[in-house]
Amino acid sequence: MKKVTTSTLMQLKQKGEKIAALTAYDASFAKMFDEQLIDVILIGDSLGMVLKGDDDTLSVTVDDVAYHTACVRKGTSRAFVIADMPFMSYASKEQAYGNAAKLMASGASMVKVEGGEWLIETITGLVERGVPVCGHLGLTPQSVHVFGGFKVQGRENEQAKKIVDSAIKLENAGVQLLVLECIPSAVAKLISEALKIPVIGIGAGVSTDGQILVMHDMFGISANYMPKFSKNYLTDSNDMRSAVTAYINDVKANRFPGPEHSFE
Ligand code: KIV
Repeated sequence: MKKVTTSTLMQLKQKGEKIAALTAYDASFAKMFDEQLIDVILIGDSLGMVLKGDDDTLSVTVDDVAYHTACVRKGTSRAFVIADMPFMSYASKEQAYGNAAKLMASGASMVKVEGGEWLIETITGLVERGVPVCGHLGLTPQSVHVFGGFKVQGRENEQAKKIVDSAIKLENAGVQLLVLECIPSAVAKLISEALKIPVIGIGAGVSTDGQILVMHDMFGISANYMPKFSKNYLTDSNDMRSAVTAYINDVKANRFPGPEHSFE
């Protein structure tokens, strides 16, 4: 089975084939998702909420993500593995370099950072040093206290324009993938069409180049609550494997997310 790489993801976008992604935190789930042909596995700092039971992602450390990345890597043969850089682990360029090196050494093939323009130099520096980077815009959970809660971003024109500008700047800085979280579908569509790199959405409508869900939300077992943008795929499936396949098939066929999972 051919490994998914940054080139594969780019080709999927060029062919118009949707990218299906899930989070995972251990070898067993990673192996199951990999066997069902998921394209991308993210070791998200969402682990703070779904594994540790916190209200946000802020307590997650680089060592936490490195540990779970090593577990996921062992279960993965085909999927592309991305590790989240946790809160404040890339506050300076030097911190970003050292911490990204740890995550890459643990088994990641790319790191993900949350934020816009302030990250341009850091992203360029990481890419120049051989670390592929995924951006993350919109509702960036590490800034939850700045936003005053987990709220849809980009509903006002000014805010939407800032997200679009940031997306273009991140692409120019060298990100090879971009996650858009909880923004109006129309804004996500505009960005996906404007960028050459693949754009993965979560609560960003059906027009992005792919979708990602937190695995606990997709199985309907999250400790806290079920976000509007997610769907419980176990409800109509007999087992976890069929649920994963149903999710992947729905993403590839543009059946997920529906309007009920999206924002205007
Ligand atoms: O931490 C995470 O799981 C994420 C996804 C929601 C994109 O960043």
